[in-house]
Amino acid sequence: MRMKYTISLVFIVALVIIEKENNIISRVSDKLTPKQTPQTPLQPSNSASALGLLKLNGSSFSTLSKLDPVFTLMKRRLENYTEQRSEVIGSAGNRKHILLLATTRTGSSFVGEFFNQQGDNMFYLFEPLWHVERSLTLEGGGTNATAAARAYREVLQGLFLCDFTPLESFIDPLPVDHVTSALFRRESSSSLCEESVCSPFVKKVFERYHCRTRKCGPLNLTTASESCQQKEHRTIKSVRVRQLETLRPLAEDPRLDIKFIQLVRDPRAVLASRMVAFSAKYNNWKKWAVDGDVPIDDDEVRKLKGNCDNIRMSAEVGLRQPSWLRRRYMLVRYEDIARFPMRKAAEMYKFTGIPFTPQVKDWVLKNTQASNEASGVYSTQKNSSEQVEKWRFSIPYKLAQVVQRVCGPTMKLFGYKFVNSEAMLTDKSISLIEEKIFIQNFS
Ligand SMILES: *[C@@H]1O[C@H](CO)[C@@H](O)[C@H](O)[C@H]1NC(C)=O
Ligand SMILES: *[C@@H]1O[C@H](CO)[C@@H](O)[C@H](O)[C@H]1NC(C)=O
Ligand SMILES: *[C@@H]1O[C@H](CO)[C@@H](O)[C@H](O)[C@H]1NC(C)=O
Ligand SMILES: *[C@@H]1O[C@H](CO)[C@@H](O)[C@H](O)[C@H]1NC(C)=O
Ligand SMILES: *[C@@H]1O[C@H](CO)[C@@H](O)[C@H](O)[C@H]1NC(C)=O
Repeated sequence: MRMKYTISLVFIVALVIIEKENNIISRVSDKLTPKQTPQTPLQPSNSASALGLLKLNGSSFSTLSKLDPVFTLMKRRLENYTEQRSEVIGSAGNRKHILLLATTRTGSSFVGEFFNQQGDNMFYLFEPLWHVERSLTLEGGGTNATAAARAYREVLQGLFLCDFTPLESFIDPLPVDHVTSALFRRESSSSLCEESVCSPFVKKVFERYHCRTRKCGPLNLTTASESCQQKEHRTIKSVRVRQLETLRPLAEDPRLDIKFIQLVRDPRAVLASRMVAFSAKYNNWKKWAVDGDVPIDDDEVRKLKGNCDNIRMSAEVGLRQPSWLRRRYMLVRYEDIARFPMRKAAEMYKFTGIPFTPQVKDWVLKNTQASNEASGVYSTQKNSSEQVEKWRFSIPYKLAQVVQRVCGPTMKLFGYKFVNSEAMLTDKSISLIEEKIFIQNFS
């Protein structure tokens, strides 16, 4: 009696799994047909609930092994489907989805340009999660990490599939008929200022983030989505995701071929840079710099530690290369990009599998050897080798010590050397960057 019951249960589970695989195959084939209808978001996983069903009875798993022949057949069937699926994905060509993960003041705008400049094949978005973070910010500042992580993931998933709907609900004021004049830093995405996405200029509408390359009216997100679908590759830059692990569903989404590039920088340099760029928010630090005293237990110090820990934990997950991240994760240090911009840009392109165009090469050349005429806090034009050591003369030794204390493990992981005196901090003949290679084989 019980045997019979279990057999039917196993069949149901197997059918559910196969059904789901079928869905994936048809979704992928949909993707292959050139004129596609807008993609529907991934449905909640059927097989997950099927697994839940199995777990209801603790003994079910052991019973499964007794039903080996049935189970093996099902497994083979499943493997068949999985094979077909990967063939379809393989031939779907080369659409890549690149997520550039960073924190503020790590040169992410600069590195984002490597992809923004790629040309007609790339749809690039600059900090779309700005809207999400802003609307989820709680009264006392900060966000609910769980809720934010989920919203970030859903919005990113939509955007990688050219669906702006999840993002729209976070844009303030809400877009009307999918048209908005409030998209943060629209002008930083060349894709959003192209001829085809540029609606006629409207005199009366104030657009804070207006296109610089041409005069455009408010952004029609339907048009933007159409343009996105025409492009071969998609890149999003974000300084808002806290933990790489929270993005695992994106890596496992069969509609996406996602590559994560995590950009990190010496936390002492980041602090020095933030104290200048976000001056008003760093009044405490500036006061401590003058006084020479930093409280051991302070919210600001705890926040710094929290940031460092998040960055380190994300990198630890990436460097461990779990199967869901295999060939999908690359760690890049700001300092290496600043010192060897062309080499690092080429490596990043190699990792993503996208051709490194002459256009990108030109951009890198122009923007790393340029003179010091740069201006503005988000400026990307700088003499990058010079820039990389500048912080050593702007941060007081006392503050460098605090960073070393709370960000020690993070610094060790990335190969940033500690200083043990003010003299060492400002002695340019001593490099604070260990030569380090993180993951070598991407193939
Ligand atoms: C779960 O397993 C227990 C112990 O083997 C059994 O008594 C019970 O009937 C099972 N329940 C279901 C829903 O299969
Ligand atoms: C797997 O696919 C092959 C070829 O398409 C087929 O001959 C075989 O019967 C399939 N096996 C199962 C278990 O479905
Ligand atoms: C954060 O959000 C989650 C999910 O929305 C909720 O369950 C949880 O209670 C929230 N936590 C706090 C501290 O508000
Ligand atoms: C936005 O663009 C779509 C498609 O390009 C078009 O159908 C729609 O009318 C436009 N919306 C507005 C408000 O102009
Ligand atoms: C950039 O900075 C380096 C180091 O200070 C210097 O040697 C080089 O001449 C500078 N290049 C330009 C183009 O200013």
